Amino acid sequence: MFDISAKTKQLGIIGDPVDHSFSPVMHNYISNRVGGDYIYCAWHVKHEDVGAAIAGMRALGIRGINVTAPHKNEVMKYIDEISEGAKQLGSVNTIVNRGGILTGYNTDADGFCRALEYEGVTIEGANILVLGAGGASRPLCIRMAQHGAASITIVNRTHERAVAAAAYVSEIAGMGEIKAASAPEGRYDIVVNTTSAGMEPQIEACPLADMSFIGADTFVADIIYNPAETLFLRRARENGARTINGLGMLICQGIIAYELFTDIKLEKDMYASIRRDVFGA
Ligand code: ATR
Repeated sequence: MFDISAKTKQLGIIGDPVDHSFSPVMHNYISNRVGGDYIYCAWHVKHEDVGAAIAGMRALGIRGINVTAPHKNEVMKYIDEISEGAKQLGSVNTIVNRGGILTGYNTDADGFCRALEYEGVTIEGANILVLGAGGASRPLCIRMAQHGAASITIVNRTHERAVAAAAYVSEIAGMGEIKAASAPEGRYDIVVNTTSAGMEPQIEACPLADMSFIGADTFVADIIYNPAETLFLRRARENGARTINGLGMLICQGIIAYELFTDIKLEKDMYASIRRDVFGA
């Protein structure tokens, strides 16, 4: 462990629950690696205490706070500024305290895009299939559209939700072809699972029955990391596709948050180091 002194700056995460969070181990690992004089803790904060927690951030001069479920919307009431990107997504997962001004960001979807970039996958010009139209789907679609995806097709078990999500993403992102479909149509460069199908405990579930359209020229991403390989990812891999699980997004949202907290630009190899040393992956 690095030395903690009176100069050490504080970072942390609030959520309910929060004891499952990987953020403390990831952020403290990064500080150790880069010699950042920061300590990162986890704080269990109930809904009714979110305002007090943010007031405490101001009073104590805490440099940065990550926000996890279920407070990502609630914190928006208590901070001073919200980045354009977080406004578009309607939620904040990172708050930076710059001289008493608290600014909110959302690094989740940016983390997903950065993970694809680190894996050598180009979003610009890609035809992308997104499975799911729940809370995780819209932010990823918006960011991928803004990164220049040629088309994004949203397929969801409940089709009307895919239609609503496609309309919302088109309105916010305003670029690329965004549409809903009742089933995959043809081939795609990138396929992303944003549904909870396959996540513990529903590990036997797969968001698609027919995956024959996925082949060696498809990059397949899942935002689930528990289990490490969902049934969906296993079937994609067996079809010859290159795959990435949700650890990529988890790690990269943390990397981007750390950069915002500290103004330290992390090298690309931090991603592989965290994968290996923190997650053994
Ligand atoms: P959250 O906001 O946490 O993402 P959600 O809004 O319930 O939760 O979204 C979960 C997503 O996973 C939805 O797209 C859901 O499909 P429906 O809109 O039809 O409910 C999808 N999902 C969950 N379990 C699924 C399963 N077994 N097969 C296919 N899709 C599933």
